[in-house]
Amino acid sequence: MESGSSSSCLFQSVQTTFFLLFLSFTLLFSVFSFLIYVFRLKPLCGCDVCAAYLSASWTKEFDNLCDWYTHLLRKSPTGTIHVHVLGNVVTANPDNVEHMLRTRFDNYPKGKPFSAILGDLLGRGIFNVDGDSWMFQRKMASLELGSVSIRAYAFEVVASEIKNRLVPLLSSVCGKDDGVLDLQDVFRRFSFDSICKFSFGLDPGCLNLSLPVSEFAEAFDAASRLSAERAMSPSPLVWRIKRLLNVGSERRLREAIKTINALADGVIKQKREMGPSKDHNDLLSRFMTTIDDDKYLRDIVVSFLLAGRDTVASGLTSFFWLLSQNPEVRDAIREESDRVLGQTSDGLASFDQMRKMHYLQAALYECMRLFPPVQFDSKYAQDDDVLPDATWVKKGTRVTYHPYAMGRMEGLWGPDCLEFRPRRWLTRGGVFSPESPYKYPVFQAGVRVCLGKEMALVEMKTVALALVRRFDVQVANGHCGPRFAPGLTATIRGGLPVVIEERSVASTG
Ligand code: HEM
Repeated sequence: MESGSSSSCLFQSVQTTFFLLFLSFTLLFSVFSFLIYVFRLKPLCGCDVCAAYLSASWTKEFDNLCDWYTHLLRKSPTGTIHVHVLGNVVTANPDNVEHMLRTRFDNYPKGKPFSAILGDLLGRGIFNVDGDSWMFQRKMASLELGSVSIRAYAFEVVASEIKNRLVPLLSSVCGKDDGVLDLQDVFRRFSFDSICKFSFGLDPGCLNLSLPVSEFAEAFDAASRLSAERAMSPSPLVWRIKRLLNVGSERRLREAIKTINALADGVIKQKREMGPSKDHNDLLSRFMTTIDDDKYLRDIVVSFLLAGRDTVASGLTSFFWLLSQNPEVRDAIREESDRVLGQTSDGLASFDQMRKMHYLQAALYECMRLFPPVQFDSKYAQDDDVLPDATWVKKGTRVTYHPYAMGRMEGLWGPDCLEFRPRRWLTRGGVFSPESPYKYPVFQAGVRVCLGKEMALVEMKTVALALVRRFDVQVANGHCGPRFAPGLTATIRGGLPVVIEERSVASTG
């Protein structure tokens, strides 16, 4: 009895010691992180912008950081600002954008800070590398994505996902008393299913709300979120130390990446065993014919998942938010599609029919002018430089172009720049007329322009058309402007709750 109680005392005191040690370590670690934070921010700068940033006083006037930056950039005579405490030049000036993305592309790589943050998840994938490795993948991927057969495959994937899952899912909630649905969540599931089928030939089946989200989707979600959170830690040292000790968010990130790797390895192994087949049109099967290194293959394909998933979902979410505020645009899309498809079609247009829908294309471009899925994008200056607007850039400075602010600059789009007006993209004859990609760098521009642009547009048009023709979508709380959650891609905090009604006209097919 006595020996039992003395061993439990011993156990308790060991437990207490461990607890105290852990507490002291956490305290020390927090103080250390705070010091790094203070040191890194160079808090001696007292200019208004830096003071507002440090005290977060901008939050009194603006819901989103991107709105505050837009306000500052609109006020700046050159369309460029310098947030000294962050060592960050931010620009909304198309000449500067062209300079960094084309003319002096070599001087503005993604840089080490970015690749370190996403390195564990993306490895040597295209999204995360510069130099020769990037060039090799870019060439290979451009060839594949440019081929007619892969475009047809992408279209087939999207059309089947719409017909067999998206439309039945939305129909199933129509007219129900508790029929409020988070459309952002639905689009995220939809685009994850589509990009996985396209990239891996794998169907995670996320667009079935009654099923739990697949292990893969969950792991991928966690890995992208936790990687993005690294960028928000006070100093890279913080997450690096946590990674070394394998604690907290870094432990969860490691576990999520392990799940992704195990799954990707399984798919690659299975495909190798089956050997080459004409039936395998997915990107992975195509890359496997030229690349033997399985780890490299995994990296390449995971980059595509990240690039193509949340971007499309984000664009579609803002599109339906804007349509609910602007029903005349929705009606014009219906009119155009009735003209091109006829009134009784099920809303799934062919490539050729899609090309004839100039108004639809204009509406999507206009949506992403106001709500670009990638709100800003940064590079790191390799050497000292001077931007075309005479801004001095010191070697190592982070230089950010800001599509969100650029879409809201009066000097670029006129006094009605804050209005959703698709017709600004059409000629008098109603033909879609694009703008310079440096004025509209929603898909980036220049040497490293998005490789999935055409595919993304076809996907978004197909979804938009199918839903607009078949359903009336009303956003609950539509009067409030979107508030964004921090992350790599624009995501509305709290999702997009909508009520959906089936249209009763002949055009629903
Ligand atoms: C509305 C949808 C999309 C938008 C707004 C968009 C936007 C962008 C942007 C801004 C970049 C540059 C990122 C950077 O370098 O930091 C990019 C790169 C890229 N995107 Fe997209 N994207 C979209 C959809 C897609 C899709 C569906 C795919 C895949 C099929 C894709 C594949 C890529 C790839 C591979 C790159 C890297 C290109 C390179 O580094 O050379 N994107 N995209």
